[in-house]
Order: sequence, then C-alpha cells, then structure tokens
Amino acid sequence: MHTLTDGTEIEFRQIRPDDKENLETALGRLSPESRHKRFLAPKPHFNASELRYLTELDGFDHVAILATLADDPNAIVGVARFVRLRDLPDTAEVAIVVGDRFQGQGLGRELGRRIADEARERDVRRFTATLLGDNVAAHRLFHAISDRLEGRMEGGTRVLTAEIAAA
Ligand SMILES: CC(C)(COP(=O)(O)OP(=O)(O)OC[C@H]1O[C@@H](n2cnc3c(N)ncnc32)[C@H](O)[C@@H]1OP(=O)(O)O)[C@@H](O)C(=O)NCCC(=O)NCCS
Repeated sequence: MHTLTDGTEIEFRQIRPDDKENLETALGRLSPESRHKRFLAPKPHFNASELRYLTELDGFDHVAILATLADDPNAIVGVARFVRLRDLPDTAEVAIVVGDRFQGQGLGRELGRRIADEARERDVRRFTATLLGDNVAAHRLFHAISDRLEGRMEGGTRVLTAEIAAA
C-alpha cells in the first residue's frame, strides 16, 4: 500500500489479460495533454490488437505495473511499462503515465522506482524513453531513477537514455 499526499491509498500489481476494459476506461479519463505526452499522438481509444499487446505480456521482455485505487483494483490510476529492445537485450523502452487527478504527488516516481526494480531483476540495465522536449516532470522522474541520464533531440522530441540506478 502507498499513500499519496492527498491521502488516496494506492496498490500496485502486474497488468493482466482481463485488464483490457480497465485500461480503456483509464485512457478515457486521461486529459488530451497527458495522452499526447504518453503516446506522442492523439489517442482517443485502443483498438483490439493494441489492447492485446498492452495486456497479454510475457512478463520478461514486456512488463507492466499498474497503480490502482486500493479500494477498487479495477480503477487504474497509473501504468509503468517496459519493452525490451530486440537487438539490445540489456535495454528497454520505458513509458509511465499517471492519471491527471493523481499527478504531482509522487506516484510517477514510485512507479518509476518499481519498474526499475522489475527491469533490474530481468537484466535490463538501461531505459530509453521518447519525450516531448518540454516534458519537465518526465525528465525529472527518469533522472531520479538513473545513475546517468543522456538526452538527444530528434525533431521535436527528446530521446532519453537512462542507466538504471543500483537498487
Ligand atoms: C510524467 C508523469 C508520469 C510524472 O508523474 P507524477 O506522479 O506527476 O510525478 P511525481 O509527482 O512523481 O514527480 C516526479 C518529478 O516531476 C516533478 N513534477 C511533477 N509534476 C510536475 C510539473 N507539472 N511540472 C514540473 N515538474 C513536475 C516533480 O517535482 C518530481 O521531480 P523531483 O523529484 O525532482 O521533485 C506524469 O506527469 C504523467 O503521466 N504525464 C503524462 C504522460 C507522460 O508524460 N509520460 C512520460 C512519457 S512516457
């Protein structure tokens, strides 16, 4: 159990195949700005194949942790996910999103810490993430979980490479 600064109680668990509807509902609650920051594109809904990809994971190359309300395990308020790169198995693409109402209360950082733990246990040493150039909160979050952070601009986006900090 984890308590946010406003008192909301949060539980964490791995995503499951039966979370498809919960994930679609959570996407529907996200502001257009947060969706754009997470997906770098407008994302009004997930199609069936995206929902399969996002919820039916092997738990080794693709891992996702959910933050849910403690009193409703179907109410997703945050997701942290990594997908290992095929040609660089010690590196994974990472993405984190927190519901707008719950942002700025340390939940992103907690999800970041937990996904880094999951990654380390599976021999992932490095995260990459593609961010909008002005995404200060995400930049700070990745800084907090890494020993060394590098960034390069590609068009309007910033590609971060983070050496995952020791436990
Ligand atoms: C990025 C995101 C996951 C951060 O989650 P969060 O719960 O709001 O973040 P936290 O409260 O844990 O704060 C993390 C850091 O960001 C900072 N931060 C939070 N909100 C901020 C804001 N609006 N502006 C600037 N900095 C901010 C915090 O101060 C903290 O930095 P610090 O540890 O150096 O003090 C969340 O804002 C989000 O979901 N954004 C939309 C999706 C996205 O951008 N994902 C990242 C790309 S995959």
